Amino acid sequence: MKLWGGRFTKETNELVHNFNASIGFDQKFYRQDIRGSIAHVTMLAKQGILTEAEKDTIVAGLTGIEKDITDGTLVIDGTQEDIHSFVEANLIARVGEVGKKLHTGRSRNDQVALDMKLYIRDEIVSIDELLLSLLKELHHLMKENINTYMPGFTHLQKAQPVTFAHHIGAYFEMFKRDCSRLSDVKSRLNYCPLGAGALAGTTYPLDREYTASLLDFTGATLNSMDSVSDRDYLIELLSALSTIMMHLSRFCEEIILWNSNEYRFITLDDSYSTGSSIMPQKKNPDIAELVRGKTGRVYGALVSILTTMKGLPLAYNKDMQEDKELTFDAIDTVKGCLALFTGMISTMTVNAPAMEASAKNGFTNATDAADYLVNHGVAFRDAHGIVGQLVLFCEQRGIALDDMTLEEYQAISPVFEADIFNAIRMETCVTKRNTLGAPGPAAMEQVIEQNEAYLKQRQ
Ligand code: ARG
Repeated sequence: MKLWGGRFTKETNELVHNFNASIGFDQKFYRQDIRGSIAHVTMLAKQGILTEAEKDTIVAGLTGIEKDITDGTLVIDGTQEDIHSFVEANLIARVGEVGKKLHTGRSRNDQVALDMKLYIRDEIVSIDELLLSLLKELHHLMKENINTYMPGFTHLQKAQPVTFAHHIGAYFEMFKRDCSRLSDVKSRLNYCPLGAGALAGTTYPLDREYTASLLDFTGATLNSMDSVSDRDYLIELLSALSTIMMHLSRFCEEIILWNSNEYRFITLDDSYSTGSSIMPQKKNPDIAELVRGKTGRVYGALVSILTTMKGLPLAYNKDMQEDKELTFDAIDTVKGCLALFTGMISTMTVNAPAMEASAKNGFTNATDAADYLVNHGVAFRDAHGIVGQLVLFCEQRGIALDDMTLEEYQAISPVFEADIFNAIRMETCVTKRNTLGAPGPAAMEQVIEQNEAYLKQRQ
């Protein structure tokens, strides 16, 4: 049975029905669809468009449908075109004639816009919770590793010493911004489209603000044509999700490097690693690689919706039905990746000695040696040249700056005294960098305290 069969004289071609149908995927928001319908009929009754008794019968029917779908008694099959038709047809079958009044003053165009917004709002809450768990794990890693020295890189070349806490802190900032981006998306989308009808509102005296308040919206949308054709909130959501994936992907890339034989900065737990069918020695970081790989899929969803929306005339067009599968897939992908990633980093082992040895071997304290000379009156450009000579000297011998003797230092510049060794110790190099946001322990403590307050306020 079709909602719109009245003016047709022929049955729909089967291929057309299948091609047109969205029930295979829009059943995902049956709860939101029913919630929206309950709010709609509640408003209709308040406005005297339905009687209280009619409203109560419809609400009871809808509540029963939701319960039955949830417990599996009512199976959503493919005979209906979409979830809206499925719920309405079932309602009529359950409560009889009065069920036919459900769709008064409503179109599937405003209905589907509402369902998507409600669904997205709920999903934003779950993604945000997953981000919060990740932030807590990062916070924990930061607190544990304030004195875990490691090389900081630029161009993937060792640059200056930092700490593992500091490196992890960079990701804390990224994921904190991701939370704030999601909350922006939510506040901008939080206007209720119901009552926009097909595109031009309705002739019934609806109270749109009342429906909006029943559904916890900030208010009602202000233009009925925009209400049914706006998909900005999906574009913004997918952009925010793409950014989350980009952050996860960069982090995964580092984890893959750090877990390699060449680095050995961390060791992934056996429970989060996989093996090879041919090479018995292999322990592969497949989870990190998969998260990195799935990033492309989420970017794809963003580009896809942008392309779908481009060039659509106002107001609703069926092209917009394409918004669903890609959005659902992106949401499920991000949720899966966040959960797996958090599990992976909470079980990995941090190899502090390997990190510190790597920082030493890479001349990451060369800038500090130059600063030492500057503090003893040498111009920075000259200091840069002198330390360049020290590096060359060490490279030819395969040693670190810390391994040179004082005589060797003084042969290159007489300005060096015995305190040079303390000045270039990893601990000194890091400890001296104490401006806000730098890796020094005092600066880190300050940031960790702020992060702690952030996490507390988010409880
Ligand atoms: N399944 C449709 C969608 O997802 C629902 C809206 C249908 N509206 C229409 N005029 N055919 O966009």
